[in-house]
Amino acid sequence: MRSAKDFFRPLAVGAPAPPREVPFRPSRMIHFFDPGNEKMAAKVPALAPQVDVLLGNLEDAVAADRKEAARAGLVSVARATDFGATQLWTRVNSLDSPWALDDLVTLVTEIGDKLDVVMVPKVEGAHDIHYVDRLLAQLEARAGLRRPILVHAILETAAGVAAVEEIAAASPRMQGISLGPADLAASRRMKTTRVGGGHPGYLVREDPPPTFGGGTPSDAPRVTYQQDLWHYTIARMVDACAAHDILPYYGPFGDIQDVTACEDQFRNAFLLGCVGAWSLHPVQIDIAKRVFSPAPEDVAWARQVIEAMGDGTGAVMIDGKMQDDATFKQCQVVVGLADALAE
Ligand code: GLV
Ligand code: MG
Repeated sequence: MRSAKDFFRPLAVGAPAPPREVPFRPSRMIHFFDPGNEKMAAKVPALAPQVDVLLGNLEDAVAADRKEAARAGLVSVARATDFGATQLWTRVNSLDSPWALDDLVTLVTEIGDKLDVVMVPKVEGAHDIHYVDRLLAQLEARAGLRRPILVHAILETAAGVAAVEEIAAASPRMQGISLGPADLAASRRMKTTRVGGGHPGYLVREDPPPTFGGGTPSDAPRVTYQQDLWHYTIARMVDACAAHDILPYYGPFGDIQDVTACEDQFRNAFLLGCVGAWSLHPVQIDIAKRVFSPAPEDVAWARQVIEAMGDGTGAVMIDGKMQDDATFKQCQVVVGLADALAE
């Protein structure tokens, strides 16, 4: 099977080689802003220290006649702002749009030294990543950049989900993948009209009580349980990312007022392996920070297990619960994340 190495050919002259291993940087919330909106752009310097990632969005939610203004706005904001430890990402327009090429050329040329990650929407296969990869290498070499810009794919078409493994493996530039539930719903012809989250119609109902001996069925109300529309895709994305050492993310949650459902959705993603989610509004920043940082009591428990397990082999009982090599590894994940976030 061909690997990312077979596809990635750095330019002979001048291009920085992408890292084989992406160093950990917190990215619990990828906070979206519209750089063409002057009021929003003016808040960026104050917002930067509050978030792990600031993303200047050029794609959907930016109207066609404002694409150039958004691109120019991002260049000005990036030049004028000291982002400190906060990462600067952008979401460029999709590769089948008339704007993607100019987005990449302008941003890498003008602010490539400030840009950490390019998020590419509607990725359908490894070929989309290879295209961006080669173009970035050329533009970086021309601009004399010393640090490679990484690539993040949005999983938001049925074809993309079918190809998620090859997308994750497509380049050493791959930083991670986000679920894009809104476009994915449209691509799959789902009958929903929302951005992420659950749906009251997607449920299972408990069985009616048994009518032994042919009695009349009871009309007592039966409990229903709402199911998670995104479980399958998130699990598939997490497996592909874990197998190729890149990071998985929940994407947008559009019902800004429903902070409870947002927190539930983010927490499910966290428990399944995601490291962050998009925040579309300041109220979602704190939710993401809380959810995607391991809870102190979970970290304390994990440290207790690690301590009790010594070299990590064998089995011990703690509070009546069996711990072994596998729980030791789970605890290492929790502690490792807590330690990395504390640095
Ligand atoms: C995000 O871009 C989505 O389509 O959900
Ligand atoms: Mg989308």
